[in-house]
Amino acid sequence: MYKIVAKQKLNHLVEKMVVHAPYVARKCEPGQFIILCANEGDERIPLTIQDYDREAETVSIIYQIVGYSTTKLAEKEVGDTIAHFAGPLGMPAQLHAKKRVLGIGGGVGAAPLYPQIKELKAQGVACDVILGGRDKDYVILQEEFKEITDNVYFATNDGSLGTNGFVTDVLNELLANGVVYDEVIAIGPLPMMKAVVGITKPLDIKTMVSLNPIMIDGTGMCGGCRVTVGGKTKFACVDGPDFDGFEVDFDEAMRRQNMYKKQEEHVCRMKLG
Ligand code: FES
Repeated sequence: MYKIVAKQKLNHLVEKMVVHAPYVARKCEPGQFIILCANEGDERIPLTIQDYDREAETVSIIYQIVGYSTTKLAEKEVGDTIAHFAGPLGMPAQLHAKKRVLGIGGGVGAAPLYPQIKELKAQGVACDVILGGRDKDYVILQEEFKEITDNVYFATNDGSLGTNGFVTDVLNELLANGVVYDEVIAIGPLPMMKAVVGITKPLDIKTMVSLNPIMIDGTGMCGGCRVTVGGKTKFACVDGPDFDGFEVDFDEAMRRQNMYKKQEEHVCRMKLG
């Protein structure tokens, strides 16, 4: 059993939990994820690791309350326990940038972006970040990123924080102003990552993205997380979750992501009313 040592509401749908998980905390690297079951017998939920503290033996996760399983997880409070917390899973992120990197985080995508930027900064790489969301409440980890980066830019769909528009509007502006990046790391909704690659690929700016498809076992056995990268079948849970954005078949990934939407909504209605 894994004890919840801290919990914080980031907005009305997104929460952060710090969990005492000694083995994961000792081994995990930026880019990796865990799969948890809130209670014995519950659905397995894959969640990226937002941060970790090897001394305190804790791992921080951020989740959006979107269905039955995340609602059950959100019911837990500090002092409660999580039944299963398996990891670290997936490949650690390959951090290529040498001089200046641009991180782009859309919504909860800011969570897995954070440890990668933190590690790059520790390696002496200059780091800028664009955070986006539908409004200012959906732009998470604002202060955390300000502490570890050179520049943080914001974009919101309603203009309540930063640029009124999309993260790609800020990206276009930075590039038009002549800022040079040797890598972009974009993590967020698939349409956002596809749009970022649409800008960076013609300019040949290396772009890594993180895929978060349907996952079941998380060990490469079930095939649920199948994606096509560079024309080849890959499994996000063992080959990723980070991939070269130039090679990802985003349209297929979007089709597969929506495949079980109706069933998920049905289960949610049945169980939560
Ligand atoms: Fe089953 Fe990746 S989650 S193969």
